[in-house]
Amino acid sequence: MHTTTIRSRTRLRLAGALAALLVAAGVATGPAAQADERHGKEPTLADLAQRHGRYFGSATDNPELVDEPYKALLGSEFDQITPGNGMKWYATEPQQGVFDFSKGDEIVDLARAHHQKVRGHTLVWHSQLPGWLTSREWTPAELRAVLKKHIQTEVRHYRGKVFAWDVVNEAFNEDGTYRETIFYKTLGPGYIADALRWARQADPRVKLYLNDYNIEVIGPKSDAYHRLAKELKAQGVPLDGIGLQAHLALQYGYPTTLEDNLRRFSRLGLDTSLTEVDIRMYLPATEEKLAQQADWYRDLTEACLAVRRCVGITLWDYTDKYSWIPAFFPGEGAALPWDEELRPKSAYFAIRDALR
Ligand code: XIL
Repeated sequence: MHTTTIRSRTRLRLAGALAALLVAAGVATGPAAQADERHGKEPTLADLAQRHGRYFGSATDNPELVDEPYKALLGSEFDQITPGNGMKWYATEPQQGVFDFSKGDEIVDLARAHHQKVRGHTLVWHSQLPGWLTSREWTPAELRAVLKKHIQTEVRHYRGKVFAWDVVNEAFNEDGTYRETIFYKTLGPGYIADALRWARQADPRVKLYLNDYNIEVIGPKSDAYHRLAKELKAQGVPLDGIGLQAHLALQYGYPTTLEDNLRRFSRLGLDTSLTEVDIRMYLPATEEKLAQQADWYRDLTEACLAVRRCVGITLWDYTDKYSWIPAFFPGEGAALPWDEELRPKSAYFAIRDALR
């Protein structure tokens, strides 16, 4: 009896030491991971990211949801989803004051079924606006009312269902000046603070983000966000994070200042996330280009893991089958970690390596 206890204690201690070693080596040890490994099941990107306290997500779009193999992978590999179009203004308020949340709801329901969290995208953007909004002139008072109603109705609808909102998308030009959108031209730069405040009133808990592309590097455009974020914080405007879209392209070079850039936003007390990641290339894709792409996916994953407040990474869909790139950048493509047949590419294994 006595010896058995001692033996089992020793065994326990040895097991503990082994577990610690495995943890140090980055090997899964939790009950779920152990069960998975017993059954020969590889941990998913989401499992691996969770060990770092991060999420790993993908955008998706309603028309793709009839594709069962696609849906299966979307539901199993990721723990976060962003609707690629379903929550944009043209989709959610197709006529003034007439709201339609069916597209976004479909994606929220799908995410719920797979225990995934949802990023709301996006409330205020110059693109994909409904015709009723862009086809006439508005006085500042009118447009303020329209904007407030749109934001608050949508944020209220998704309260408790999305954990973050891209409140304003793509507010700056490349040189760091304000983009001359209908909102900027009619309301001035204060529309951003107003939008954040209105969103906060409608959902006190959701994380509020500004989101843009080409702000991965330190430069005039990311400087503009840094400056604005600092001002907004100083004025007590609710802002929780900066979303770096990270639509990268091999021909433009890797954003080597990404990690430093993430860090300077952390120092302002803000979360960051990589919200729309893809890495496009001129077609045809060669082994060499795909290897470089894999390196970049590894590097950007490592950059996020290196900065405590970089909370997660979202691919702008996960398969080349449904990438937006070929339609928007003619001659370019192959931007995502899974190919058009849903087979994982080198990029996928590089992300796994980085997360291990
Ligand atoms: C893209 C969608 O993926 C496409 O389906 C749509 O036709 C155009 O918009 N930055 C953003 C995203 O913030 O909303 C864009 O999504 C890609 C660029």
